[in-house]
Amino acid sequence: MTDEKTDLTVADAATGDADGAARTAAPADVTPQGHPMHRVLSFVRRSARLDARLQRAWDAYAGRYLLDLNAGEGSLDVRDGFVLDAAFAERTWGNANPLVVEIGTGQGENVVAAAAAHPELNFLAVEVYDPGIAHTLLLAGKQDLRNLRVAQVNAPELLKATADATLAEVWTFFPDPWPKKKHHKRRIVQPTLAAEVHRALAEGGVWRIATDIEDYALHVHEVMDGLDGWRNLGKLTVSLPTGHVGKGNADLARDMPHADFAESERFDGRILTNFERKGLDAGRVIHDFTYLRV
Ligand SMILES: C[S@@+](CC[C@H](N)C(=O)[O-])C[C@H]1O[C@@H](n2cnc3c(N)ncnc32)[C@H](O)[C@@H]1O
Repeated sequence: MTDEKTDLTVADAATGDADGAARTAAPADVTPQGHPMHRVLSFVRRSARLDARLQRAWDAYAGRYLLDLNAGEGSLDVRDGFVLDAAFAERTWGNANPLVVEIGTGQGENVVAAAAAHPELNFLAVEVYDPGIAHTLLLAGKQDLRNLRVAQVNAPELLKATADATLAEVWTFFPDPWPKKKHHKRRIVQPTLAAEVHRALAEGGVWRIATDIEDYALHVHEVMDGLDGWRNLGKLTVSLPTGHVGKGNADLARDMPHADFAESERFDGRILTNFERKGLDAGRVIHDFTYLRV
């Protein structure tokens, strides 16, 4: 879902992107010298028009489901001072049920199905892309879901704004693969995000991750398996190449040295989205991870 043609950072955003589309710059983080800080983002902001059906869904349901926590009109940053804590959750969802946050919900198929199947849990869908948000609103509105809310913000910012021990689970399913080696730093699973997720999870909370990209699976192991404070609950042994390959070179990985890693069975709380189905149809293997906050 990501267009890799541009290499957008906050510094770029302040000056406009490569194709000249108008955009709202995130408030530029600045160095002590006043220069814009180079913040690596896991997505490229694209201006996408909503078709009539999605626009109608937005108009009908944004008021009910979309949280007002952005720094400004069109900004994907969380506004200064916003805190996602138990009090906010209770005001927003109307109860103190456990809260599950899905990062990068795409079209919303999974989070909506999970919310419908688990009225005893609260769900927050976090996505940046307008059509995905609108589609999620459409699905939620059609089912009249009461336990789902949607945030259109850069997920790491929201995690940063989340109070300690607020979340029951965090889900990141099929994150954008960023296959080129020079883009691996844009992959959303990073030690900095892991630290925020760890802090935001309550005792016994888990971060569930899934990917259909073998090189991303290795990346997840590299980021997560050695981090203090996490236990990989995986019971399956999976053999993966121990070196990274860039875009278009996945075949080279077969001849690289391999090592064993622990991964999970398919998370049965995840429905088969179009995105996952396409990966399976292309012959890719799904890697599931469950990391317990310890
Ligand atoms: C490859 S798609 C997968 C969507 C969905 N999880 C699925 O399985 O169908 C990854 C999604 O993550 C979203 N995304 C990427 N970086 C994000 C960020 N920093 N904050 C929120 N969403 C993000 C993208 O817009 C995209 O919709």
